[in-house]
Parts: sequence; structure tokens; C-alpha cells
Amino acid sequence: MKGSKIRWGILGCGRIARKFAADLRLVDDAELTAIASRNKETLELFAKDFPCKYQYNSYEALAMNGEVDVIYIATPHSHHYEHTMLCLNHDKAVLCEKAFAINSRQAGEMIKNAKERKVFLMEALWTKFLPHYKKLQELLQRKALGDIKSVLVNFGFKTSDKSPQRLFNPLLGGGSLLDIGIYNVFIAINVLGKPDLIEATMIPSSTGVDEQIAVLFKYNNGAMAQLFSSFVTNLPTQAEINGTEGCITLTTRFYEPSATIQLSKKIPYEREVIAVEKEPGFGYHYEARHVNECLKKGLIESPVMTHADTLLLMEILDTIRNKARIEYPQDKL
Ligand SMILES: NC(=O)c1ccc[n+]([C@@H]2O[C@H](COP(=O)([O-])OP(=O)(O)OC[C@H]3O[C@@H](n4cnc5c(N)ncnc54)[C@H](OP(=O)(O)O)[C@@H]3O)[C@@H](O)[C@H]2O)c1
Repeated sequence: MKGSKIRWGILGCGRIARKFAADLRLVDDAELTAIASRNKETLELFAKDFPCKYQYNSYEALAMNGEVDVIYIATPHSHHYEHTMLCLNHDKAVLCEKAFAINSRQAGEMIKNAKERKVFLMEALWTKFLPHYKKLQELLQRKALGDIKSVLVNFGFKTSDKSPQRLFNPLLGGGSLLDIGIYNVFIAINVLGKPDLIEATMIPSSTGVDEQIAVLFKYNNGAMAQLFSSFVTNLPTQAEINGTEGCITLTTRFYEPSATIQLSKKIPYEREVIAVEKEPGFGYHYEARHVNECLKKGLIESPVMTHADTLLLMEILDTIRNKARIEYPQDKL
């Protein structure tokens, strides 16, 4: 920490790294101190748009920089394990993009390492920090919908030549489940908890990863979740939470700050839009602010997105993959 500022590093200068770097400017007590890219030209372009003190062509050099407090891992999920371990092994706090790892074995090892070294580690599940999602949690906590009986979520977009190559590449953890379906699973378990039964089936792309997947959760208390993700069609990308006293719809794109919360009590077509304050930005500044707060308190784990939350999410993703027969090379290591 320099004065009251937390000094950030960004590892990997791809698409999401750019959005995150832009939002970091909205965090008063954050400073972008260093960036690392494998590619010289990418590094220069990134540094031009987001100036900072250090620029490296090596991820290791970033991890070794003594002036960096925390590193944001923005590489494909296939590399989160390797890059998070690299940073933790240099005693750097880490905010790691979702999917946190390829499987729960990797996730467990990453968390164990952070705990042993007493270094902060959090999965960048940004939705959990967004104002509209916090409002949803508040409504559910005061039982505004009665007993929740179902969670119905869809997330889909039609990929194009401009979409990242990693989406369909099995070596980079491609497939709709780990990329977008993870948000559907996150909401279902955040609202209903760990399912008692999981079913899943998928349609493979020509590369073998899931281009569409349908997931069903069943709970012994009578609740269900139906989750669908697709890389081949544009879907409403909405989430519905249905209870005995009403239902809530998180409108298009339910996982982003652009979503609104619509509440209907008893009569489904009468919907009240719940007001939520919105700040400018993509929405990544909320999680970054939270990380800063945790670091200033000396925490090694977020009380909001806990290690147990990440492990449960990864374990459930493993079970879904098992049911739908989605395998990655890293599973065999
Ligand atoms: N939270 C969100 O809203 C959100 C949104 C999009 C993506 N994500 C997550 O963020 C991660 C990155 O996604 P992205 O869309 O930013 O991907 P991307 O545009 O492809 O960028 C990934 C970057 O990772 C680096 N990298 C390191 N090893 C690589 C390899 N073997 N192959 C390809 N790239 C490699 C590259 O950076 P350098 O060449 O600069 O080293 C590359 O530009 C994914 O895990 C994804 O799930 C999160």
C-alpha cells in the first residue's frame, strides 16, 4: 500500500482487462501500478490507454514487483490456476476472474496455497457486488417472495468471428457452461443453496466443448432450478425467481448493472420496477472497491465471495460437467 492507495497489477491485457482497468479509475483508493502481457504490441496499446508505472512482457516480472499489492488475473480460465499460483507464490494478493479454475481440484489447491501463505484470494464474481444484485438479496432475505420454489435462468448470445477464440477452444477451457452458464449456476445456488440432485445435458460444438447446455437442479424442499446457456442463439438473458408470494425478474442481462429488478406480487403481469442507484462504469469497480476494503482490513478472504462459495460453485460445475460429459485436458492431470 502506498499512502492510502492500493496498488494494482493486471496480468493479461485482453478484453476484460481493458474494462477492469477503465473501472479501476472509478475507485478512489486504487492505483494501476503495473501490467503484463505476453505480447509487446498489446502491452504498448494497453499502456497507452491505461498509463501505469511498470509494463512487463513477463507475467513473472509482474508477480515479483515489490510495489504491487494485488494482481487481477484476466487470462482464460485454463490458465487461472497457473497464474494465480505464480502470484500467490510471490505473496501477492489475487483477484481471479471467473471461472476461478477448470475444476474444483485446482480451486482447492489455489485456496489452500492462499491460506497457508496468508495471502488474500477472491474469485471475481462481480455480480455479487452489484447494487441490483444486493437489492435482490435484501428482498429475498426479508422473504418478499415467500418460499422460493423455482429459479429459471437463461444466458445466450450468438458468437461471431469477433468473439474470443477461447470460447470454443477446449485447451483454453472453452464452452458455454464455464463462460456464461456459470452465472446461472451462481444465482441458483446463491438463492436456493446446494442442490440435492443435478441433471445436465449438452450439445457439443465442432471442437467438442458445449455450445448449449441445459441444467436442472432439484431440492428436497420442493424447489427446482432450470438453467440454460447458449453460444448459438441470442437469449433474453434474464433470471426469474419464483416464490409462493410473488416473483422477481432480473431483466436483460441479469448479471450486469444494466439489469432492472421487476417485482410482481400475485398477479404475474403487474410488475413494479424496484429502483436501484447506478453509478457510471461497467460495474467492475464495485468488486475492486471491496478487494481494497478487504486488503486494508488485512483479510485473506472476502466475507462476501468466500472461499467456500467458490469451492461449492466449482464442485457443482464439476458435477454438471460430469453429467453432461464435458472434459478438459486439465481434468486428467
Ligand atoms: N467478469 C466478467 O464480466 C467477464 C467478462 C469477460 C471475460 N471474463 C473472464 O475473463 C477471462 C478472460 O476473458 P477475455 O474475454 O478477456 O479473454 P481474451 O480477450 O481472450 O483475453 C485473455 C488474455 O489472456 C492472456 N493469455 C495468457 N495466456 C493465454 C493463452 N494461452 N491463450 C490466450 N490468451 C492468453 C492474453 O493476454 P496477453 O496476450 O496480453 O498476455 C489474452 O489477451 C476469462 O476467464 C473469462 O471468463 C469475465
